Amino acid sequence: MNAIQIAIDGPASAGKSTIAKILANDFGYIYVDTGAMYRVVTLAALRAKIDLNDEQAVTQLLPQVDITFAPGEPVQKVFLNETEVTTDIRSSIVTANVSLISSYEAVRQAMTQLQRDIAAQGGVVMDGRDIGTTVLPNADVKIFLIASVEERAARRFTENQTKGMTDTLEEIQAAVAHRDYLDSHREISPLKKASDAVELDTTGLSIQEVVAAAKQIINQKIER
Ligand code: DC
Repeated sequence: MNAIQIAIDGPASAGKSTIAKILANDFGYIYVDTGAMYRVVTLAALRAKIDLNDEQAVTQLLPQVDITFAPGEPVQKVFLNETEVTTDIRSSIVTANVSLISSYEAVRQAMTQLQRDIAAQGGVVMDGRDIGTTVLPNADVKIFLIASVEERAARRFTENQTKGMTDTLEEIQAAVAHRDYLDSHREISPLKKASDAVELDTTGLSIQEVVAAAKQIINQKIER
């Protein structure tokens, strides 16, 4: 039997990475945060000081962008050309520009290939925007995680405060709503629920409740 693939898609701050990471740990599968990959490319472009609107310049940078992961708590460690960038890829400047960078065809092709290569290594829980629709269209389980924009902004606000970031709740809510719009309206592989995905609304649910609901969906789809 082929290794199990679980795809978790949904808008920004719906809780995808938290849930995906717990599921991967519990099942002993590889966890892949595909948003982190697009963030690394964005950080690399910012550091290279190229014009982010110049798709060709961003495309030319791709061969120099080596992305790797290592286990870490509370979040997986992320490396750009062997330098750790786990914190840097969460900065406001990266967040503000990642939708643009992730709309470029060559960037999406390179990341999709990398994601499929990782998924070929074994059981995987992969979170993102286009995993169930494009990256792993034959995934065994597809979950589409949603939550109200107010709740998602509030979650990110609390998370940012623990990191000493000073953006206001209003600023965060506006940024989340803007990113939702860009991610859902881009031409290539937009954020979209796959026709065979199960929607899970996490508004008002605790992490434990979402994990339990996700496991119920998974158990209905596969026998492990
Ligand atoms: O999940 P995140 O907020 O870290 O993702 C950052 C951005 O990357 C998101 O705004 C859109 C993009 N992204 C994407 O286009 N496709 C994915 N599979 C994952 C993320």
